[in-house]
Amino acid sequence: MARAVFILWTFCVILGSANVGQAAIGVNWGTQASHPLLPSTVVGMLKDNAIKKVKLFDADPWTVSSLAGTGIEVMLGIPNNQLKDLAKSYGNAKDWVKKNVTKHLSDTGGVNIRYVAVGNEPFLKSYNGTHDKTTFPALKNIHKALNEAGHGDKIKVTIPLNADVYDSQSDKPSGGDFRKDIRDLMVQIVSFLNENKAPFLVNIYPFLSLYSNAGFPMDFAFFDGGHPIQDKNVQYTNVFDANFDTLVWTLKKNGFENLEIIVGEVGWPTDGDKNANIKLAKRFYDGLLKKLGSKKGTPLRPGTMEVYLFGLLDEDIKSVAPGGFERHWGIFRYDGQPKFAIDFTSQGHETMPIGAKGVQYMDSQWCVYKGDHVLKEASVVAPEIDYACSNSDCTSLGYGSACNDLTANGNISYAFNMYFQMQDQSVEACKFNGLAEIVQQNASTGHCLFPIQIVSAGERIGLASGARLFAGLVLSFFVLV
Ligand SMILES: *[C@@H]1O[C@H](CO)[C@@H](O)[C@H](O)[C@H]1NC(C)=O
Ligand SMILES: *[C@@H]1O[C@H](CO)[C@@H](O)[C@H](O)[C@H]1NC(C)=O
Ligand SMILES: *[C@@H]1O[C@H](CO)[C@@H](O)[C@H](O)[C@H]1NC(C)=O
Ligand SMILES: *[C@@H]1O[C@H](CO)[C@@H](O)[C@H](O)[C@H]1NC(C)=O
Repeated sequence: MARAVFILWTFCVILGSANVGQAAIGVNWGTQASHPLLPSTVVGMLKDNAIKKVKLFDADPWTVSSLAGTGIEVMLGIPNNQLKDLAKSYGNAKDWVKKNVTKHLSDTGGVNIRYVAVGNEPFLKSYNGTHDKTTFPALKNIHKALNEAGHGDKIKVTIPLNADVYDSQSDKPSGGDFRKDIRDLMVQIVSFLNENKAPFLVNIYPFLSLYSNAGFPMDFAFFDGGHPIQDKNVQYTNVFDANFDTLVWTLKKNGFENLEIIVGEVGWPTDGDKNANIKLAKRFYDGLLKKLGSKKGTPLRPGTMEVYLFGLLDEDIKSVAPGGFERHWGIFRYDGQPKFAIDFTSQGHETMPIGAKGVQYMDSQWCVYKGDHVLKEASVVAPEIDYACSNSDCTSLGYGSACNDLTANGNISYAFNMYFQMQDQSVEACKFNGLAEIVQQNASTGHCLFPIQIVSAGERIGLASGARLFAGLVLSFFVLV
């Protein structure tokens, strides 16, 4: 017994010391997927890869409860469409806290909830001010409700903000200030965060800087030098630091020099654009994680940075309004399998991360175009492709994407297969006016994967409870006999 205790103690000491000095790296776990993995499977991935912080976009009870007892720090999210209700009535906020926070807490083995993120980039320019009046009142109501429930010391409120809430007159960090149309509001919010020792949460996307400016110097998006810019006596070698310090300047100018900043989202997509691929994503993460491990911070904020990577998994039903890359931000694929080696410890231990375990795939069959020999009129095929793609995900066909070099027939097959898989391989979903057929031969070519969908979380539960019911019936049969 004493020996067991000693071993356990040594183990904890070793584990503890391994943690000392590690950068605080978390991941974003989004669930806008047609076939989401089981929450318990995803939690297994987090544990296997020693990821200790997770940011969610809602407070789905199945997801949240699956984190119970893991010790993983959790940031709950409140979607923008709930802001109005939470702003309107304190009772609604109280109810939200009771149902989505208090329920999951317990002294032993509860969920380690640390933050509630109110809204998601609610002041994005493209929202035209839709959430300007509701976000701050919702924040205050949730904060008050957390306090009243006795959670205020441990659980902080904040708002995940896009870096477009500030800009720079001079195009240099030192010219930073809040965007004019929301300046007063931002000052009030920042003052509230400051009073309540809550962090400023900002999403910074070097990929989008590159994507949206044709003249953007490529190297400046990464962390391996090149194209430095000079700002007063500071030199910036990457846009991440420059952007972060623009925020530091912005806060300083408004009197909040010491407000804590957490990066809520940063990452690089692997498909759906000419600069979205595994090679560049790996280059980005290699540089970012090395930087985080070094604790250099930024020129104006040296030291440890707290960062949530975006994101954990590909999400095939995200809106592609920003671009086809939106569905390919995952460090892991749709099925929880890793795409590239990465160093989550940021201590120079780069390895292929551990993929999801126990994932169930559907049958190895594909839906393909059978018109190889018959030249079909484009007018016959085009509407079928349109239908298939608008009800599935064809973003890998786009310019510069993994499947952009398919033949014309390959394109059609890709679209048909994506729809077929999305529809759980239903025979009805491989008709396309007689143009399609189901085959057992792998239709993937070169870099282009024709995926087989996974059995989605909801259905597996259905199957599992069906099996339990069956076992129960068999059991009661024997008991009755
Ligand atoms: C959170 O609480 C509200 C009720 O206050 C409820 O409507 C909602 O479904 C809960 N769960 C989520 C995921 O927001
Ligand atoms: C914002 O305004 C633009 C231009 O008027 C419009 O196209 C867009 O749909 C609006 N967005 C929202 C979220 O209202
Ligand atoms: C396949 O489809 C993509 C995207 O629609 C297009 O860019 C490409 O030119 C097509 N290829 C052929 C050979 O038709
Ligand atoms: C189909 O082939 C691709 C490689 O071309 C491979 O990655 C994939 O695992 C294969 N799928 C199945 C179900 O065997």
